[in-house]
Parts: sequence; structure tokens; C-alpha cells
Amino acid sequence: MKVDGRAYRSIWPTPSGDAVETIDQTLLPHRFATRRIDSLEAAAAAIKTMVVRGAPLIGATAAYGLALALRRSAGDAALEAACSALAATRPTAVNLRHALDDVRAFVAPLPPSGRAAAAWARAAAICDEDVALNRRIGEAGLPLIEALHRKLARPINILTHCNAGWLATVDWGTATAPIYMAHDRGVPLRVFVDETRPRNQGAALTAFELGQHGVPYTVIVDNAGGHLMQRGLVDMVVVGADRVTARGDAANKIGTYLKALAARANGVPFYVAVPSPTFDWTIVDGVAEIPIEERPAEEVTHVVGRLDDSRVARVAVAPAGAEAANPAFDVTPAELIDGLITDRGVFAANATALARGFGQAAISA
Ligand code: MRU
Repeated sequence: MKVDGRAYRSIWPTPSGDAVETIDQTLLPHRFATRRIDSLEAAAAAIKTMVVRGAPLIGATAAYGLALALRRSAGDAALEAACSALAATRPTAVNLRHALDDVRAFVAPLPPSGRAAAAWARAAAICDEDVALNRRIGEAGLPLIEALHRKLARPINILTHCNAGWLATVDWGTATAPIYMAHDRGVPLRVFVDETRPRNQGAALTAFELGQHGVPYTVIVDNAGGHLMQRGLVDMVVVGADRVTARGDAANKIGTYLKALAARANGVPFYVAVPSPTFDWTIVDGVAEIPIEERPAEEVTHVVGRLDDSRVARVAVAPAGAEAANPAFDVTPAELIDGLITDRGVFAANATALARGFGQAAISA
């Protein structure tokens, strides 16, 4: 997608191939700057500090991080140590584990001397695959928006939470892919963007990328969604996910579950857009089995924003010393999800429909 008219992916190799570059998402929307990642440590730090974030981009960055680690040392022990270090960065997004397993399985049969180059090529392929998967999610979700537009014969209002846009993936986004495609085809629409406390990925990142693409949007506080749905001002909800179980329970940014409850109470269709690598076929009960990342309390007690004089500052919103809890994700049970928009089509959120749609991948896990 484009920033100031120039096409970007969210991660790309440098021309010499000595490193990858990413967009520093901790600075958006106030400053656009890129960050160079040239080592395992730099990749792990970028994921942990959320310079890069979003389940698919975390996976892509980890794949490159593993390739960079193998340039330094490519024996079996080094391979395992690098995988462990990267896997420990963020626990909820299963794309991280899948990307590391993928690269490890690809390079393990090779002699150590060939592993780094093979891992680099595989990381690049994972990025290309992510773009293709998200494009297919867009194509699968587009008819849902077009059908609503035909039925209602007015601009469509879509609510989304957090950032499941191109910045969270390599390109297109998951929740945003059908939105971008519908907008590009002339379907009139508006996106209600939940600000998404504590880190405000909605207000900062989703608003930024929708604005760059010219998609009309309105930022709302997280608590406004139920009210808007009750007034008939939301036609559908589309969110992303960090991990979806074999029966369709979906972990996503904290607050997603409340939106699903409000959507169900008000008869608003609630969709979760997910690429294949976001499924965890090894687990069924999301509430019991998906690990939920607990992040620093300072993300709750403080916010980052731009002052009127353009400086970016971090200010407190709670009393000094206030105790705060910061679970970063919640789980929306499958029964609250009206459909999973995937790269293989739209499926009901239940084990039978998903096993039918994903066949061997689902069954052999
Ligand atoms: O903590 P974050 O910003 O990494 O959380 C991101 C989300 O919750 C996204 O909705 C999810 O990763 C899907 S991204 C296509």
C-alpha cells in the first residue's frame, strides 16, 4: 500500500541483502521512519517493543531474524537457540511459531554452510505468501460488503478494532483487505476505527493507513461501539486475529470480545479475517488454551501523543503509582462469530466447517 503516494511493504530486504528494513510503528502516525534490522537481537527487540506488530508481520520479522542469526552461527544448537529466543518475544500470535517452524524445517536438512542463504530465501517467500493470502482474504470478503451495499443501497459502515491492516501484515492487511478492495471498486463505505487502548493501534495506525489510501474513516473511543451498533450505525464488524482454534475461537486485541458481544446483541454481523497461518489446529478451546500476553502496566497508566508544538510526548493518565493490569488480547468464542473470512473462503466458525475448508492442515495437527 502507499505512504505519501509511494508503495511500501511493511518489511523489505535492503538492496545488498545485509539486513531488512521495517517501518517503525512506535512513531506513527506522528513520524514516518524506517528501522534497520540486521541481527537476531535486533529482530527480537523490534518484535518485543512493537516496532513491528500484528500477527503476520511478527511471523515475517521472526523468519528474517532467524535467517540473520544463521549468518553468525548455523549449527543445530544455534538454530534451536535462535528459534527459542524469537519464539519468546510475543506469546499470543501463533504466526510467530508457524514462521519459525517453517524456516527451521526448511533449513534443518541442509548442511550448516547452506542454511543462512536458504533461510533468507524462505523468509522472503513467507512475505510473498502473506501478501497473496491477504489478497485472497480481500477477494473472499469483498462480496460480503458488496452484498450489504446492494441490500442497503447506501454507504456501508464497518467497525474495526486495533490494526489488522497492511501495517500488521506484509501488505493489504487481513480485516482491511476486503475494505480496500471494496473502496477501490467504488463501493461507498466508512470505517469506524476503535482507538484501541492501551496502545491506540486503531487511532494511530489504522487511521493512518486508511487515510493514506483515501478510505473515509471515523476514529471512536473504544466504548462507543455498542452505542453506535444500538443506533443502527454499524452494518458489519470486521477484525483480525492473532490465533484461531480448530473450532473457530479467535484471540485478538483486548476489547474485541466486547465488540462481538455488542454486535450479537444488536444483530450486527461480526467477521474475523484470518490467513491460514493464524490457525492453531492443535487447540480447540480458545479461552482455556490460548496464552494471553500480559504487557507492561505503563501502557495503561500512560499514553503517547503529539503535543501542540509537534513534540511527541508520553504523559500519565493515572495517579503516580497506580496499579494497572494489561492483558493484551482476549478470546471471542466461536458462537459469537458470524464468519471467518480466510484465504480459502468464508467459513462458519465451527470445527466441522473449518475441517472441511482446510482439510489436511486441520486434521493432521
Ligand atoms: O498487539 P498487536 O498490535 O500486535 O495486536 C495486533 C492485533 O491484535 C491484530 O488485530 C492481529 O494481530 C491481526 S493482524 C492482521
